[in-house]
Amino acid sequence: MGAAAVASSGPGLRCALNPALNQHKKGARLSLAAKSQQRCAVTCGRLLLRPNARVCTAASASASTVMDSGAGDSGVRRKRLAVFVSGGGSNFRSIHEAALGGKVNGDVVALVTDKPGCGGAEYARCNGMPVVVFPKSKSAPEGVSTDELLNVLRDLKVDFVLLAGYLKLIPGELVKAFPRSMLNIHPSLLPAFGGKGYYGLKVHKAVIASGARYSGPTVHFVDEQFDTGKTLAQRVVPVLANDTPEQLAARVLHEEHQVYVEAVAALCEDRIVWRDDGVPLIRSQTNPNAYT
Ligand code: GRF
Repeated sequence: MGAAAVASSGPGLRCALNPALNQHKKGARLSLAAKSQQRCAVTCGRLLLRPNARVCTAASASASTVMDSGAGDSGVRRKRLAVFVSGGGSNFRSIHEAALGGKVNGDVVALVTDKPGCGGAEYARCNGMPVVVFPKSKSAPEGVSTDELLNVLRDLKVDFVLLAGYLKLIPGELVKAFPRSMLNIHPSLLPAFGGKGYYGLKVHKAVIASGARYSGPTVHFVDEQFDTGKTLAQRVVPVLANDTPEQLAARVLHEEHQVYVEAVAALCEDRIVWRDDGVPLIRSQTNPNAYT
């Protein structure tokens, strides 16, 4: 399946282009209904474009048109990122904004979702990114198979896959196709409170019930199970005496947005160094002899 077919996957486009993107709208199949425009304005309200950012429309996205691949400030080729989302997509949005703002030496070239109506998918459409529905299911019959997804990711020349609130287990073939090149973010200090069933507020409820005094997000490489790949980065937040799961979730999510961007920035600048025992470290941007 080619990228053009992918771009038309999922529900109909429900938003108008961000005004900043209108110069690229020729040929795009976008609804200009006033209601949709309002939705898009809300969804895309925080988008900031780099002055020279090249952003294609959903209808015209393809491997050759999606983004430039020149070297960034680091002198390293800009990387091509696919982000997988099942929900609101706030981490996806922070990574996308960091890419547009120059903090991340890469470009999000596709959004993959099992929930074509989710907030993350809507944000992607509003910002002219191809949305790929995966996997195929009763509620998402337009979805693609693992082989088709692999072909799409290859066509788009994706360097790295970033899971950001994607709830399905990633099939082994996909994990194998992106060795040391697939990250996930989890809202607890792994290996605690991870694995099947630990997602969303369930994680924070379990942390509070355990009496743990600290929590925080973990960015880790993806293997074939839930939340067991090697840890790359973590942040710590306190668990307060009267915390509700929602309050703790908000404190952790704030840190997620920082730590995921920093980890992805390191990945895109080739600053991940693998220790002999298989643990990944991040080399400091400013001091090549310092690692975290
Ligand atoms: C985050 O808490 C992340 O750690 C977990 O799923 C949530 C996604 O949130 N994997 P969002 O969709 O990025 O807002």
